[in-house]
Amino acid sequence: MDVLRLLEDEHDEAKSVFKKLERAHGPEASRLWDQLKSMLTLHEEMEETLFYPQLKAEKPTEDLVLEAYQEHHVMDLLIDEISALEPSNEEWQPKMKVLQENTEHHIEEEEGELFPKVRKIWDTAKREQVGRQMEDMRERKKKASKQRRAA
Ligand SMILES: [Fe+2]
Repeated sequence: MDVLRLLEDEHDEAKSVFKKLERAHGPEASRLWDQLKSMLTLHEEMEETLFYPQLKAEKPTEDLVLEAYQEHHVMDLLIDEISALEPSNEEWQPKMKVLQENTEHHIEEEEGELFPKVRKIWDTAKREQVGRQMEDMRERKKKASKQRRAA
């Protein structure tokens, strides 16, 4: 699969879980949060392993990628802070809102600014190749986390 399609599909999935979280409470909110947290963490890891390093080495995408790393960093801080809270805590909703806004901003920049540049510097074959590597990594990581949970 084209790596940009793969990433866009994951962006859409994350946005829809954020939407569900807006109305969720108690155990349902915790369950959705666990799901969202693993999605975001894996997504960041795949981008930072297979996507950003190569694009950082290209002049047209270098600055956008350096900014994207910082956006991931801020998202990680919020993810850690939310993970330390219960959904009933008064800071849960506002922190979630800030994470949602940050994530949506990050997605907009990737899809609106970074991806069009990637389309220019990587041909279809290259995008398919990186997409396949990402699918493999996602499979491996998902299997490993299933095994961890079962142990
Ligand atoms: Fe990202």
